[in-house]
Amino acid sequence: MGDDRRGPVGGMSERVCVVTGATSGIGFVTARELARQGATVVVVGHDPRRTLEATERIRREAGSAQVEGITADLSLQREIRTLSTRIQQTYPRVHVLVNNAGAVFAARELTTEGIERTWALNVLAPFLLSTLLLPRLQESAPARIVNVASAAHRGLRLNWDNLQGEQAYSGYRVYGRSKLALLLLTYEFARRTAGSGVTVNALHPGFVATRFAQNNRGAFARAFRILSGLFAIQPERGAQTAIYLASDPSVQSVTGQYFARRRPTTSSPASRDPSSANRLWLTVALQTGVPPTSPSAGAGQARTGANPTG
Ligand SMILES: NC(=O)c1ccc[n+]([C@@H]2O[C@H](COP(=O)([O-])OP(=O)(O)OC[C@H]3O[C@@H](n4cnc5c(N)ncnc54)[C@H](OP(=O)(O)O)[C@@H]3O)[C@@H](O)[C@H]2O)c1
Repeated sequence: MGDDRRGPVGGMSERVCVVTGATSGIGFVTARELARQGATVVVVGHDPRRTLEATERIRREAGSAQVEGITADLSLQREIRTLSTRIQQTYPRVHVLVNNAGAVFAARELTTEGIERTWALNVLAPFLLSTLLLPRLQESAPARIVNVASAAHRGLRLNWDNLQGEQAYSGYRVYGRSKLALLLLTYEFARRTAGSGVTVNALHPGFVATRFAQNNRGAFARAFRILSGLFAIQPERGAQTAIYLASDPSVQSVTGQYFARRRPTTSSPASRDPSSANRLWLTVALQTGVPPTSPSAGAGQARTGANPTG
């Protein structure tokens, strides 16, 4: 990652941006560039030491003191609730939430809350954190939710009897399905918040050379390292679409879209099925203890001219 020591350049000053998974890869560059644009940035990390190091490095490289690190294991709902409370106690306004943290797990594991880890981190965490922070985002409107999804969703369908890999588990397919679920929820969120002043979009960052998959052992992690060395783009480039959706004035009113290379693109037909999205919404609401009607469909007026196409 570059070490360009320019200070903040304005544009995003007065904006508070929360970036999850900001200790590494795409999230780190996104957080640093938003800080460089003058935003106050909340760096959400998993590991306390890495969170502290990333926060200090972002302060240094962005030339900004307005960077705070908070540690939370986002695969645990109680930690997401504590994180949301802490953010809301500290920041009277929150304008941008980038749900970037995510991972692939070669072997099936349950969290201490009894949820399969990929589902907990890649699906329930962005859903719950977005839902908990939504009132604060609405009060701060115009505001944005940006979900880091993946082209790995393509060619897959949700298996309703095996959402958490109960019957069969294959790490990369489970990962792809988690990103399919994230897209379905992105579109449903956009439909439910249309006109509220909060936009909700998703993106594919490209194949990016990061620490992705390195939480696994052996051949699985090695294969990603080799492929990454051969074909992946650098995080600076991989973060461009997330930075664009989080900050560019030209997309302030755009909602319910999927982007790649800073352009809207069409996600798979399975990801655009509104009845699956509604069914999934009810499922994850139950799994996270969120009222299924929150936020209610069509809340607010079409103030932003938003176009939630799903
Ligand atoms: N790299 C790619 O080619 C690619 C392609 C498509 C989509 N994506 C998506 O891009 C996003 C960012 O990934 P990346 O490639 O930048 O990978 P990365 O370098 O591994 O970064 C992942 C980030 O998520 C954090 N994280 C992991 N588990 C967590 C947990 N339980 N609680 C809180 N934070 C946690 C990590 O923190 P720690 O390091 O401290 O654990 C790290 O900051 C992910 O959603 C990924 O699915 C990546």
